[in-house]
Amino acid sequence: MEVIILPSSKEVGALAADAIEALVRNKPNAVLGLATGSSPLPIYDELARRHDEDGLSFTGVSGFALDEYVGLPAGHFESYREVIRREFTNRVDVAAENVHGPDGSTEDIAGACQHYEEAIAAAGGVDLQILGVGTNGHIGFNEPGSSLASRTRIKTLAEQTRVDNARFFDTIDQVPHHVVTQGLGTILDARHVVLVAFGEGKASAVRDFVEGPVSASCPATVLQFHPRATIIIDEAAASKLANAATYRHAYDNKPTWQGV
Ligand code: F6R
Repeated sequence: MEVIILPSSKEVGALAADAIEALVRNKPNAVLGLATGSSPLPIYDELARRHDEDGLSFTGVSGFALDEYVGLPAGHFESYREVIRREFTNRVDVAAENVHGPDGSTEDIAGACQHYEEAIAAAGGVDLQILGVGTNGHIGFNEPGSSLASRTRIKTLAEQTRVDNARFFDTIDQVPHHVVTQGLGTILDARHVVLVAFGEGKASAVRDFVEGPVSASCPATVLQFHPRATIIIDEAAASKLANAATYRHAYDNKPTWQGV
């Protein structure tokens, strides 16, 4: 696990965008794993800017959303398919048919989860998975207690997550109780994971998953098993790390040929 501490969310977004740009320029048919929520927004803003100003093209790229609410009708403003379209894929030139998300509006949720796993595999697997982390240590919507080997499936949101996400809805009662999420095993299959986090509110979760013992009680700790996990955070999110000086030293002395 590589931990990179930067001054602000803007620099975090730019460095994560560097990793994505390098991938897409090297592999124009790359498969991106797309997160929603606030954390990836600086990445999407920066990629949209590079598309507009530098001609960075995503025409061959496919995207797979990490998760989706269950029960929101297709096209709902807060459904993650719509959020990803609005915040990222509609702002660049990703082909609409190459953007995928788990189906949370079907009667056959189990079948849709199986189908989603098959679609990711058929695309060749995820090259780079963007992640945020919940205040309770979730990634995707793998809440505390999730199997570290889990695959795409339905989960019940922790009440803390519903409270955290109520800001996107008019009232907390509108936040669904259930979601479909890629599992922790699914996320581990991505060839590179890039997790971004900002602000003091994420400092405890960051400390726990970077430096704590691997445990289903803090699902993001599973990333300690990933051979290529890049954690890019701002100073506030890094403020509770015991070994921050070690991470800074390693990054300051990183061989340039390694890239992000
Ligand atoms: C979103 C997702 C979640 C969020 C997490 C942090 O697709 O899977 O794990 O990344 O809840 O949310 P924000 O970034 O809004 O703080």
